[in-house]
Amino acid sequence: MVRYVDEPVRVTVPATSANLGPGFDSLGLALGLRDELEARVVGSGLLVEVTGAGADEVPRDASHLVVRAMHEAFAAMGATQPPGLSLRCTNRIPHSRGLGSSSAAIVAGLVLARGLVGGGSLLLDDDALLDLAARMEGHPDNVAPALLGGFVIAGQEDGGFYAVPSPVDPRISAVVFVPPTPVRTEVARGLLPATVPHAEAAANSGRTALLVAALAGRPDLLATATRDYLHQEFRERAMPESLALVRSLRADGHAAVVSGAGPTVLCFTDGPARPTAGWATGPDDLLRRCPDGWQATHLDLDTHGALLGP
Ligand SMILES: Nc1ncnc2c1ncn2[C@@H]1O[C@H](COP(=O)(O)OP(=O)(O)OP(=O)(O)O)[C@@H](O)[C@H]1O
Ligand SMILES: [Mg+2]
Repeated sequence: MVRYVDEPVRVTVPATSANLGPGFDSLGLALGLRDELEARVVGSGLLVEVTGAGADEVPRDASHLVVRAMHEAFAAMGATQPPGLSLRCTNRIPHSRGLGSSSAAIVAGLVLARGLVGGGSLLLDDDALLDLAARMEGHPDNVAPALLGGFVIAGQEDGGFYAVPSPVDPRISAVVFVPPTPVRTEVARGLLPATVPHAEAAANSGRTALLVAALAGRPDLLATATRDYLHQEFRERAMPESLALVRSLRADGHAAVVSGAGPTVLCFTDGPARPTAGWATGPDDLLRRCPDGWQATHLDLDTHGALLGP
């Protein structure tokens, strides 16, 4: 018989960027920008309070993505649904911009539900939680770094998922350029071709392998390693300004990519501004490249993943 805890449970979950150029559907990275959530089992009903990103759009009923994830986790733990739930969300990750807001919501809901059940970590361990999160999201490349933090190589195998953390050089950080209007992931995905030439697939494989090494300790190779042949250019019709910014930054030697399915642009940097010698310029130079009406933010990479709060 499952027992619910009386106290509220808090969790924070990071934004994530998937693909990172050539790592289409396989590479993802956690960023230092977090949603904060608090949930509590109450006597009856469902109360959902939302402030920040998406507050004007997300539903306040059982169709809210965090609530749906909580119900999935309760079911996976063999728990009868709680009599009532109260959920408070403080959202910082922008929605439908390619920064993994849906994955953060799913991971948050699963971790909250696990925390609300006595002995929840035994009933739903991290592997099972990741599997459930990837099933809800449809792929593991955002949910894995959202849960684990850092840089993760993830994919599907025989109906299951794998997620392997890989090291990141601590000098590396990122500037994200977030446009004012969203692009739905399905729209951006619908533009991709069914096949690509073999030579381009081969070139893409080489860059993906190089990117793992570049992130681990060769930041000087990041611009070369982030060149993609599989998806970014095809998305141009859905996000012409994003592609224009990627091209202009890359032409100047920056490691710029479309974040996830876009339209956010992510550009790796080595942190503090410094003269143009070397592999990148500092964030001040990059922040000045922000198009009118967009928001540019310099973020550290996140190494913690989902964290239960005090
Ligand atoms: N914190 C949240 N609370 C409730 N619903 C959310 C939350 N975050 C995302 N969603 C739901 O997910 C949708 C956005 O998901 P979508 O996958 O299109 O974009 P994304 O996750 O922000 O970007 P990407 O998947 O490209 O990285 C929102 O419109 C909303 O319905
Ligand atoms: Mg998403």
